[in-house]
Amino acid sequence: MSDSINKKVEKLIAGMSLREKIGQLNQPETPTADNLEEFKAAVAKGEIGSILMSVGATAGNDAQGEISVDFYNEIQRLAVEKSPSGIPILFGRDVIHGHRTVFPIPLAMAASFDPELVSQSYRDTAVEAANDGIHWTFTPMLDLCHDPRWGRIIEGPGEDPYVGVCMAKAIVKGLQNADLSDEETLLACAKHYIGYGASEGGRDYHRAEISDYTLYNYYLPAFKAAVDAGALTVMSSFNDISGQPITSSKKYLTDILRDKLGFKGFVVSDYDAVCQLIKQGVAENNEQCAAAAVNAGLDMDMHDKCYIDNLEKAVKSGAVSEDVIDEAVRRILTVKFAAGLFDHPYAEKKNIDRGEHLVHARQMAAESMVLLKNNGVLPLDKAQKIALIGPFVHERRSLLGSWTIDGKAEETPNLAERMKEASGNVYVINTNPLAWDSTNKNIAAADVVVLALGESWTATGESRAVSDITISADQKALIRKAKTYGKKTVGVIFCGRPIAMEDIAEDLDAVLYAWHSGSEAAGAVTDILFGAVAPSGRLPVTLPRKATHIPLYYNVTPSGRPVDCYYGENPGNCYVDSMPTPYYPFGYGITYTEFEYSAPVSDKSRISLSDLKGGDTVQVGVTVKNTGDVDAKETVQLYIRDEVASMMRPIRELKGFKKVLIPKGKSAKVTFDLTYADLGFYDAGGDYRVEKGKIGVFIGKNCLTQNRTEIEII
Ligand code: GLC
Repeated sequence: MSDSINKKVEKLIAGMSLREKIGQLNQPETPTADNLEEFKAAVAKGEIGSILMSVGATAGNDAQGEISVDFYNEIQRLAVEKSPSGIPILFGRDVIHGHRTVFPIPLAMAASFDPELVSQSYRDTAVEAANDGIHWTFTPMLDLCHDPRWGRIIEGPGEDPYVGVCMAKAIVKGLQNADLSDEETLLACAKHYIGYGASEGGRDYHRAEISDYTLYNYYLPAFKAAVDAGALTVMSSFNDISGQPITSSKKYLTDILRDKLGFKGFVVSDYDAVCQLIKQGVAENNEQCAAAAVNAGLDMDMHDKCYIDNLEKAVKSGAVSEDVIDEAVRRILTVKFAAGLFDHPYAEKKNIDRGEHLVHARQMAAESMVLLKNNGVLPLDKAQKIALIGPFVHERRSLLGSWTIDGKAEETPNLAERMKEASGNVYVINTNPLAWDSTNKNIAAADVVVLALGESWTATGESRAVSDITISADQKALIRKAKTYGKKTVGVIFCGRPIAMEDIAEDLDAVLYAWHSGSEAAGAVTDILFGAVAPSGRLPVTLPRKATHIPLYYNVTPSGRPVDCYYGENPGNCYVDSMPTPYYPFGYGITYTEFEYSAPVSDKSRISLSDLKGGDTVQVGVTVKNTGDVDAKETVQLYIRDEVASMMRPIRELKGFKKVLIPKGKSAKVTFDLTYADLGFYDAGGDYRVEKGKIGVFIGKNCLTQNRTEIEII
């Protein structure tokens, strides 16, 4: 940070009482009528550093009141004008994938493989949220996850570290823009640090077991990318890793986050996590909780008041040194200055025209949806008679997805509305699968049946793990029934997680994986079904055959027998009763044309380790031809395989992708520059290394591509 900020921070700290300092570390939630007066008194005494602008432990699951800018301005005025040091309060809210305009769930945005569009979505989001007086949002959520039972898989980048890195950069850039002190920005918060997505069995809040080798190579890169992109806050996660709660872990919060990743901002706890150290069995009372967390490097306490109620005592007893408190205050004040909070503490609400944001939301949603199967039925012709059936035909709220606390279901067009707007030949039959009447004349007259299927948003999000990852039995019955009718049938699946595709995809002629895609989800489905947009999403997660095959992710290490086990080129049997090959692999997605790939060509077959380290690169490229008669985008993906290394390396690692629009009949040359940063890995001590030897380089449509060349590091 600049010297001038440092000076201002030190001057403030020098004049603060211990109580006020601890106040800066205190983040209560929005007061209710019952505690309003007490709350205001605390603000005036300088005992509140930040406010979580919502109510409840799982804010993403509950409707939250609309933000009253006047109310927060009034609170801010108390802090600035009445509190002893006049330090403005930092207002934080969960603005996870859109504000009033809702963009697709982050997992879906990852499927767009279009970081620029993701940045644009978060730019729009920041403009809307900042206009409501929000300074800080608890996103990007960067928890890699291999267990789709976990409800929070919707919030993250999926199963791949490189996609996590790209999402981290894109989201931080969109939120913070070029100048964080600008009023139309939001402070980003990389969460949940660390290993929350590895909670055993997908059971929310539970333990994780992650070796340091795995941590550095899978779980940390996205956080490192967020830090490098300028994220100044990090939220610690609820889980423990191998018996160490992150909330009180110096290893994770200081040694790794600060010393290895170079994080300079402040860490906020998750909701009530500090006092939960008692339940986790590492503290006896709240004073011990507060001391353990702050000593580990956790700067701000969310909601439970554990710091404000206990840290003075802990300083007096010697359990915490005042220097530790000062350091936490220093970090928080530095971020407040960097965010421009002292220059513009109050919000001035303007009327925002969201028209353009909604256009972007429709585009983002369309780019995120993944076409999984198409027996020639799509795109639909507007002259065709379409029977639109299924439980999601009239659905609005689920289209928005979980963690949309400011989006409004009643403002969200449903599929029936958007489809009918596009064509006069759409007939909504019945949304209740069991009551579907196949003698209905509109079905008899239909050329195509479109089934709107999926899972409710209430099966996703925080504290909403499921034990099976499929659509309901009713919906499967509906698919079977539709088949007996002898029509071409298209399934549109609105969902928040990888769904086990067995018994779903086989009986459909086309399948569009539409996710919970936000305010314009229905518009985007309509655009794709009628061919206004050629689908271009690719899976950022594996879709398994059955739930019992999870965990199933592409970047596994090989096993000794058979060589690549279930996900590589030589699938072998892991179970005697079924083969756990992916139903649809990572990176998969098709469109309304075909692409033909040339063999990959590299500009050199060998490179010395020292040249590589010095900044030389290896360029590898392919020519991709659109052989069909529709202009469409292809996501060209580059994977590597380090064939022999001192540690086992994954059978494939994504190291680059480019989404390119290739007009029909045309070819595009797509190249990637492989750098030192792409070709190595971290050892268990967190040190990065590139080893000499051969690296297989694969460029193709998805992680199963065999389109290979080889380079050698000498
Ligand atoms: C939580 C979540 C976190 C969220 C916070 C504030 O329980 O785990 O993601 O940002 O509360 O609502």
